[in-house]
Amino acid sequence: MNIWHDIDEGLYLLYFCRRAFYNEVSITWKGLQRLTMEPSSIELADLVERTLLPGLELESVQPEEPVLVKELPGNWTKLGAGNYAGVFTHPNLHDEVVKVYAPGRPGWENELEVYRKLGEHPAYSSCRHAGQRGDLRYLILKKLRGKTFYQCLVQGLTIPQQVIDDIDAALDYARSRGLYPHDVHGKNVMVSEGRGLVVDVSDFLKYEPCSMWDDLKKAYSYLYSPLMSNNPVPVPEWVLNGVRKGYRLFRSAHS
Ligand SMILES: Nc1ncnc2c1ncn2[C@@H]1O[C@H](COP(=O)(O)OP(=O)(O)OP(=O)(O)O)[C@@H](O)[C@H]1O
Ligand SMILES: [Mg+2]
Repeated sequence: MNIWHDIDEGLYLLYFCRRAFYNEVSITWKGLQRLTMEPSSIELADLVERTLLPGLELESVQPEEPVLVKELPGNWTKLGAGNYAGVFTHPNLHDEVVKVYAPGRPGWENELEVYRKLGEHPAYSSCRHAGQRGDLRYLILKKLRGKTFYQCLVQGLTIPQQVIDDIDAALDYARSRGLYPHDVHGKNVMVSEGRGLVVDVSDFLKYEPCSMWDDLKKAYSYLYSPLMSNNPVPVPEWVLNGVRKGYRLFRSAHS
């Protein structure tokens, strides 16, 4: 944090309080707390570029498998990893996560563009900052609090029908913003207090059709609902990984 930044924030706060005094804007205690306590994107970027990126080692060994996190600096925790990026959190981050693309993996600019087109929607995250240091590109995203479908299956947690309906509505919303929902699989959708969220939108600019969400919904209707919805049991990860690999083979044979 530098002194000019402090002065800048202080002046902005005074200006805001003056407008509130003259009733130009309404102010609540919670709003004031957010205004004074939420770290700015400059502070967030500084935290990421000073404490995470210099010690982070990420590798994409195979494009079809999650990236490997070989080194992670103290205080940072891995929240998840996909085929393109690792996602991390830090005790000073309350509402954000940091998604870092593995060197050589594409998609950073596209994901930024998708968030720009999506705007604010309750079923999606949003992007607070995008940056690059050396060969590491990162996004600071709003944190989504929930469990992915994959985690729900592993832990034996219920996935209600409402969640499926919410995700359908969220994908329709994305289409209405000129996007093409793509790669919507069990690690990219979440259950959060009984509602559905979409956690990964990085491929929503791809025009070619993708049947993953429709296939997942079929599995939900024909397998999950009759067998598990009233009595969910934990499914071992090796079973889910076998299903994932089998599904990929099936799809490549039928495309
Ligand atoms: N905004 C977020 N809030 C909370 N957790 C998140 C967020 N974004 C990602 N995650 C977690 O990190 C994991 C990996 O992130 P993400 O799916 O965006 O990576 P990816 O490399 O683009 O994945 P894919 O292989 O599906 O393309 C997710 O499955 C989820 O568990
Ligand atoms: Mg993903």
